Amino acid sequence: MKSIIKNSKILALFSAAVLSVAVSQQVLAHGDGAPQPVDTTGLKELGKEWLKKNPYKGNEKAIEIGARGYNSNCARCHGLEAKSGGASPDLRYLEDDAEGDEWYINRVRKGYHQNGVTKMPKFEGLISQEAMWAIRTYVDSRPE
Ligand code: HEC
Repeated sequence: MKSIIKNSKILALFSAAVLSVAVSQQVLAHGDGAPQPVDTTGLKELGKEWLKKNPYKGNEKAIEIGARGYNSNCARCHGLEAKSGGASPDLRYLEDDAEGDEWYINRVRKGYHQNGVTKMPKFEGLISQEAMWAIRTYVDSRPE
């Protein structure tokens, strides 16, 4: 009898631990997954041609809009405030030059698929080019 009580205590402790892990994962996994449109009012419009270089680099308004766009579309995988928890790459470490820009925009437009598995969804057609570059500007502004 005694040992049963002891076991149930251990079980209770164990489930409390599992629960707290689940809760913290929920906090990291921000957003429900549906892509969220990003309001880019106030940013220079970019037209239909895809740019290879970030036109908003250092732009304060883009940082502000990008923060919102990031939190609602990217944070659930890449981490809140652009700090990755490890499951997806930490975007602050992408090169902040033209090569990094090109890599970034291609990944965001097309996503990433491996062996038929979508590791990252594509965002082309879901959020605007303006929103994508605003997000890049925001991530670039975060300290490493
Ligand atoms: C469903 C999860 C998920 C979401 C949502 C997501 N990503 Fe990703 N992303 C990934 C994963 C996983 C990878 C790594 C793919 C690989 O193995 O190379 C990745 C890779 C990237 C890369 C390439 C990084 C590198 O170091 O090569 C960029 C850039 C990127 N994501 C940007 C974004 C942006 C911007 C958003 C939001 C608009 C976003 N991602 C939303 C999962 C996600």
